[in-house]
Parts: sequence; structure tokens; C-alpha cells
Amino acid sequence: MKRILFACLGNICRSPAAEAVFAARAEAAGLDLAVDSAGTGDWHVGKPPYPPMIRAAAGRGYDLSRLRARQAVAADFEAFDLIIAMDHDNRAALERLRPAGNGTPVVLLLEGVPGCSLTEVPDPYFTRDFEETLDLIEAASEALVARIASRV
Ligand code: 4NP
Repeated sequence: MKRILFACLGNICRSPAAEAVFAARAEAAGLDLAVDSAGTGDWHVGKPPYPPMIRAAAGRGYDLSRLRARQAVAADFEAFDLIIAMDHDNRAALERLRPAGNGTPVVLLLEGVPGCSLTEVPDPYFTRDFEETLDLIEAASEALVARIASRV
């Protein structure tokens, strides 16, 4: 597993946070992975993450300020080994981009978190609870890093 793409709807809240949190955890664990994020929608293409998300992440030591939103494309299925969606809608939208014959797995971020009762990462653009979203992303990143580290 070398290249991982995190995806949400706007690419300004959940997936850029997941990209930064996971990249920091993977680096700390000594894993050599390429990490990126994208949105299934195009409203925020070229924009930095949502300022309240940048601030909440900065409070935990993650710098999101240099990230810029982009829209997921079919070529992402060739460019990444694993695509991780934040919710069921994201996953369904990504599946509509899948090139015929491509087998890249698209999973939900919270699928692999032991003891987590949620299956979807709540969208803080609507819930306004940026800390809850970061708590879930941190837990999921830790679980994912541990799983990948145990395989290499
Ligand atoms: P995200 O949150 O998918 O976590 O980046 C959203 C941000 C903006 C919008 C939707 C979701 N929007 O509709 O503008």
C-alpha cells in the first residue's frame, strides 16, 4: 500500500484534515506513503480548507493552510492504491468515476476503527463540531497506520 487518497464532498473540511492527520501519523511511524485528498464536488476547487477547519486542526498541530481543494477524477483510480471516503454518499459518487476493470478499493474511513459506532465522519461544515470530526479522524488514522505498519 503506497498511495492513499482521502475523499469527501467539498475537500475543504474532512478529507484535507484526514490527509494531514494521516500523513503526520504515517511519517511518525516511519511509513513511506504518498497521501492526497479530493472532493467529489467542484464548488471549492483551488481554495484552501475552510478557515474554522484550518484553525481547529492547527490547535492539534496539523497545518492545513497550504492545501488546495481539487475534484476527484477517474484517473485517481489509477493513481492511488486505496481510496478512503468519509461517508456513503462520497463512496457512491466515487464509484461512479471508477474506470471499467479498475479494482482499487474504496472504503469508509471509520470502517477500520475498532469500537467506533459511527460509519460516517460527520461533516463539520454542517454540524459545526470540528473537534468531533478531528477526534474521529485521529482515531481512524491511528488504526490505519497500525494496520499498514503491521503489513510492511
Ligand atoms: P467536506 O465539507 O466535504 O468535509 O469538505 C463540505 C464543505 C462544503 C460543502 C459541503 C461539504 N459545500 O456544500 O459547500
